[in-house]
This record gives sequence, structure tokens and C-alpha cells, in this order.
Amino acid sequence: MTQAIGIDIGGTGIKGGLVDLETGELISDRVKRPTPEGGEPDDVVKVVKSILADLSDAEDTAPIGVCFPAVVRNGRTMSAANVSKKWIGLAAEQLFEHSLGHDITFVNDADAAGYAESEYGAAKDVDGLVIMTTLGTGIGSAIIYRNLLVPNAELGHIDIGPHRDYEKYASNLIRENKELSWKRWAERLQTYYATLEKLFSPDLFIVGGGVSKHSDEFLPLLELDTPIVPATLRNNAGILGAASLAAHGSGDRPSTGAEQLVRAANENAPA
Ligand code: BGC
Repeated sequence: MTQAIGIDIGGTGIKGGLVDLETGELISDRVKRPTPEGGEPDDVVKVVKSILADLSDAEDTAPIGVCFPAVVRNGRTMSAANVSKKWIGLAAEQLFEHSLGHDITFVNDADAAGYAESEYGAAKDVDGLVIMTTLGTGIGSAIIYRNLLVPNAELGHIDIGPHRDYEKYASNLIRENKELSWKRWAERLQTYYATLEKLFSPDLFIVGGGVSKHSDEFLPLLELDTPIVPATLRNNAGILGAASLAAHGSGDRPSTGAEQLVRAANENAPA
């Protein structure tokens, strides 16, 4: 299997593309639509369907991976920070499969991005602990140890000092809404990454999300002991990771996204 479709659902946008799994590159246009107001399940499914229709050449045969901004357990979405609360406890994987008429692989968005970075990007062959964070509508996180991904880490929601649920203080959306300068935003990020550093002693931080293309503006302002680099795959990491996991899962398909992540990561882990 050399091609798969990845769909990355975010709180603000939904994007998809066809991926060449040998190279980890997009081989179609990146199709992007806004996330429908309110992020209701049926509306989101409709948008995903329309994106797949745009990628229709590959739709019938290629495996499809979908990643979503929530904890995903046994195909169910168990949280909903930036989408409708109706997702909480919903059998989301099943909902997509019924509506799309196609099996899918369904995982958390930051996990998909982290997986892609470990397979094709900045975390590839890093011999230690990598923490990937995505700075977007919220803050997503993926913990990867020697290419093995620990699914469903929700480090964007930690409380630091007076700030409960830190993504509400330091996400890229907050930077935009509050019109924070890079310097002011970097101060908030400094506290965040210094806290993660204290808690986890990582070997590398990777910063993804759309804003990572402006990483020169804010990463050099951070003072950390841990190296911190932009995601190699930029904002395509979610698409690539979802597609890659879908390909790993096709055929003998394990029952949960988490199992799939761990299995796929294990296949890549050093012996
Ligand atoms: C969600 C995470 C998600 C992150 C990035 C957070 O609000 O809780 O599951 O990975 O946003 O989308």
C-alpha cells in the first residue's frame, strides 16, 4: 500500500489530502474547508464527505485516516474542548464509517501529527523522549519515546499558576484574538515549555500547527535547556500521520486507534 488519504479535523479548519507513504509527501492538492460553526457532529461529517469527494480519484481504494481534536478511545471521542459537546462519548469512528461508507482509522489529531513527525520528520530516529505540541485553536500534544507514541496525552489542558487549562491562555488562537505580540506570546510559551521540561525532562520539543511557519518569530525567544524545533512537516503533519496510520491498519485492523498507534510505532521502533 503506497497511498492513503488523511483528513485532519481541527477546531477552525478541516483539511485533507492524498499521501505517498513512501516519501511522506502530499500527492494531491491540500483541500481545506472551515470547520462548521459550533462543530456539530453531522455538520463536520458533511464537510469530511465533501473533502473526500474532492479527492475522489483515490477515494474508492485508498485507506482513509481521520484525526480529531479530542481524546479518542475505542473509536469514541471522549472530550470536546473546541468542538460541540455532543462529541463527548460519541461513537465517532462508527458515525464516520456509516456516513462515508468506508472503513476509517480514527485517532487524536496531535497523536497523528506526532506519529508523522516520528515517521518522516523531526522526531525520526531521535533516541530519547520527544514532546510534540501543536499550537492552533487549542494546544495538542504527543509524547513519543524512541519512536513509540503514548496516545491521548492532553498536555494542553494543564493548569499552571493562576492559569487553569493553559491552552486558553497560550494557544495560537489566543495570540490572534488578544493580538499578542510575538514577544508577549513567547512569554506565555516560555512558562508552558519550562513547565513541561520540569515535568518530563524531554530530549526534544517539536512545535507544530499552522503558526510553526512563523517559528523564527517566537522560538528563538524561548530559553530552555531542551532543544525546540518547528515541525518538519509543518501543518501537514496531521494529514500525513492519519494517512500513514490508516495504511498500517488496513487489512488486519486492530480495534482501537490507540492500539493501532502503538502497533505502528512499535513496528518503527529500534530493535
Ligand atoms: C484537545 C486535544 C487536541 C488539541 C489540538 C485540545 O483542545 O483537547 O485533544 O489534540 O486541542 O487540536
